[in-house]
Amino acid sequence: MASDHHVLGIDVGGSGIKGGIIDVQSGQMLTDRLRLETPKPATPAAVADTFAALVKMHNWDGLIGSGFPAIVKNGVARSAANIDKSWVGVNVEKLFSEVSGLPVKVVNDADAAGIAAMTFGAGKGHDGVVLILTIGTGIGSALFTDGILTPNTEFGHLFFYEDIAEKYVSDSARKRDNLSWNDWGMRFDKFLHHLGRLFSPDLVILSGGASKQFDSYKDLFTVDFEVVPSMMLNHAGSIGAAYYAWQSVHSKSI
Ligand code: BGC
Repeated sequence: MASDHHVLGIDVGGSGIKGGIIDVQSGQMLTDRLRLETPKPATPAAVADTFAALVKMHNWDGLIGSGFPAIVKNGVARSAANIDKSWVGVNVEKLFSEVSGLPVKVVNDADAAGIAAMTFGAGKGHDGVVLILTIGTGIGSALFTDGILTPNTEFGHLFFYEDIAEKYVSDSARKRDNLSWNDWGMRFDKFLHHLGRLFSPDLVILSGGASKQFDSYKDLFTVDFEVVPSMMLNHAGSIGAAYYAWQSVHSKSI
C-alpha cells in the first residue's frame, strides 16, 4: 500500500502525457518520469486510453492528480485550444477515474505548474502578485495574489498582434517560425511588457520546456519586474497536480 503522502501526478499535454509518483510532502518525484505520446487526434476516448496505460505502467493503486490543458471547472473541461474540440463539456475527472479505476482529481495544467512553483519552487514564500507562465504547445498561466490562486486564467489567449498571444510566443510558434532564441526572446519580452501593463506582477516564473533555455534569452528582457525560471525540469505539472489532488481530498495544506 502506497504511503498516504504519495500521489501519482500526471501532466496531459499537447504532445506528451507524462507522470511520476510524487511525495507531496517534499515535492519530489520518486520514480522516473514516464511519457507516452498524446494520441492524434486527441479525442477523449484516445487520451483516456493513453492515461490508463500510463497509470498501468506505474503499477499504481491510489490517488491520482492530473493537469489538463484546458479551463477545468469542477472536473469538467470548458475549453479546447490545443486538444480536440470534443473535450468541451466532458467531465475529465469522471472519465479518467473510470478508465483507471482509481480516484482522480483534475486541474488546469498551468495552475498545476503554478501550485508546484509556489509550494516547492521559485515562488515559495512570495507574497504579492506572482504569475507563472508555461511555455509549450500553448501558453498557460497561473496567477497568485499573496499565495492564493485565481484559477483558470488564460493569459496565453490575450489578444496580441492580431491573434491570441500563444500563436506568437509559445514554443510551438518558435519552432513554426524557425526562430533563434534571440528572436524568440525579443518577442517574449513584448508579451511580458503587455502582461506588465495589465497585471503589474511582482514576480514572473517561466515553466515548461522552453524555460530550460532561460540563459539563452534572459538578457533580452527589459521589463521592470523579476523574471526567473522555475528550475523544476519538466516535472512541475505532475508535481503540482499531485499536490492539488492531495489537498482536494484532505481539504488541508501539508
Ligand atoms: C490552454 C490553457 C493551457 C495552456 C497550456 C492553452 O492553449 O487554453 O488552458 O493551460 O494552453 O497548456
